[in-house]
Amino acid sequence: MAPSKSGIAFILDNKITEIDFSANDSFKPTTTVLNYLRSLPGHKGVKEGCAEGDCGACTIVVAELDGRGGLAYKSLDSCLVFLPAIHGKQLITVENLAIKKGKEIKLHPVQESMVKKDGSQCGYCTPGVVMSLFALYKTHQNPSREIIEDSLTGNLCRCTGYRPIIDAATEACGLDGRDHFSENEEEIFSTLQNISEDKTSIEIYNPEQIFLKPFTIAEAIRLRKEHPDSLIVNGSTDVALLQTKKKILLPKILDLSAVDELKLIVEDHSKIAVGAGTSMEELLQFCETRLPALATILKVFGSLQIRNVATLGGNIASASPIGDTLPLLLVLDTKVRLLAPGRQRELLLSDFITGYRKTSIEADEILALIIISKPLKNEIIRTYKISKRKDLDISSVSACFRLKSDKNNNVAQIKIIFGGMAATALHATKTEDFLLGQSWSRETVEKAMEILYHEFSPISDARADEESRRIMAKNLLMKFWIETQESKNHSV
Ligand SMILES: Cc1cc2nc3c(=O)[nH]c(=O)nc-3n(C[C@H](O)[C@H](O)[C@H](O)COP(=O)(O)OP(=O)(O)OC[C@H]3O[C@@H](n4cnc5c(N)ncnc54)[C@H](O)[C@@H]3O)c2cc1C
Ligand code: FES
Ligand code: FES
Repeated sequence: MAPSKSGIAFILDNKITEIDFSANDSFKPTTTVLNYLRSLPGHKGVKEGCAEGDCGACTIVVAELDGRGGLAYKSLDSCLVFLPAIHGKQLITVENLAIKKGKEIKLHPVQESMVKKDGSQCGYCTPGVVMSLFALYKTHQNPSREIIEDSLTGNLCRCTGYRPIIDAATEACGLDGRDHFSENEEEIFSTLQNISEDKTSIEIYNPEQIFLKPFTIAEAIRLRKEHPDSLIVNGSTDVALLQTKKKILLPKILDLSAVDELKLIVEDHSKIAVGAGTSMEELLQFCETRLPALATILKVFGSLQIRNVATLGGNIASASPIGDTLPLLLVLDTKVRLLAPGRQRELLLSDFITGYRKTSIEADEILALIIISKPLKNEIIRTYKISKRKDLDISSVSACFRLKSDKNNNVAQIKIIFGGMAATALHATKTEDFLLGQSWSRETVEKAMEILYHEFSPISDARADEESRRIMAKNLLMKFWIETQESKNHSV
């Protein structure tokens, strides 16, 4: 076993910054990147609005090794990310964009466009907006309106309005994409590579807190076995809220976000295997052409800042009744693979999730792989999410329908799964049983809607009351039927 280390290293202001948590009283390993930055004299541009990923005032950009010999620039919400998550990365804040030469300041192209297009009024949101635009500038040339809007869904601006901001994005991203970061890229790349070569696990043992960060699956399993009471963290978009909102000190954390072996997507003729550490954004890019029904739901999953760090493993393991990927994954008979020292097991996702935020994971196991069976060509699959607003909102009700009809237009197979209607995402079994073998007609569907209306006993909460949820569920069935009439090509 390699000796452990208790510190992290990253690049800030073009210099390597090291924090050794065993010798540092100022920062805990679960200090958020936001709070760290705001404690520094030169990085107060980053703001705290909500501390829960909803406003984007805390947006920063990290540049990280992309595994293909270059750097990937990603926007994220610094209020949701613990300091060790930026180990081996370049941390870029709004203060790093302009170049200062003596008294002269040369703004970055995205800043210049924001000024020219009047993209800011009160300015509280502006540093976050600028960082989202900067990430867009580094990743897209002449992006479409859809891409620009998507890059801004995680940034709430109450006073300027988005038109001038979108104009600024269009102008800046119409340039050649070069800037002073492009000029330094080689140097940054080799520094990050040097930091990342050391695969020794980070193990921080402080009196109040233990934080473990392995870089390989073997180490992840070893640490899980040694610390079965540790809380696993990946993107931390769920877990961080325990600290930022519920003010809970997280005593023992196993952070799997740097285990590259958990970030993979492999496909054969019948299955797609996704590593538990694959980010939602990577999955979205893959699914656009390979599994459009999943892409539909991922396009309205959080915001780009959330999707850049949130993982599929985290969405499944949190076992939330409104986990947006669950209805589709259940409809596709997805399996999960769990790893423990000297053993592995595979089980159906429906057996893995055992109750409200409960799974059958054992204390020495980690969720490693999600194995999705591909839909067949002659099936129609649709996913739906109903929320109070389209972007960056949590589902009130979500659903996935999978239909195979025979040549007489009778239902040969139907699967219907709802999220938000019970303690877990669940099959509408009574409705399925009723529909099986029936003609796939409006008349049948109207009768099925009545069964569906009574099938669940949903709760009333801030997102929707019981009655509304019942109505949404039955109307989604009709929406699905209408779409099957419109789409005769049976696309999945
Ligand atoms: C602003 C905001 C918007 C959001 N929008 C959506 C949305 O639209 N739809 C939606 O479904 N969710 C949404 N979420 C919830 C959350 O982002 C997702 O559930 C996300 O997929 C969690 O992934 P993560 O990697 O961040 O999980 P983490 O927070 O790191 O972990 C979540 C849970 O999974 C466990 N876990 C993680 N990885 C593993 C593993 N490999 N093995 C075993 N256990 C593991 C952790 O122990 C923890 O219990 C949102 C959250 C925020 C803050
Ligand atoms: S402070 Fe609102 S998203 Fe981070
Ligand atoms: S400029 Fe005031 S909130 Fe955006």
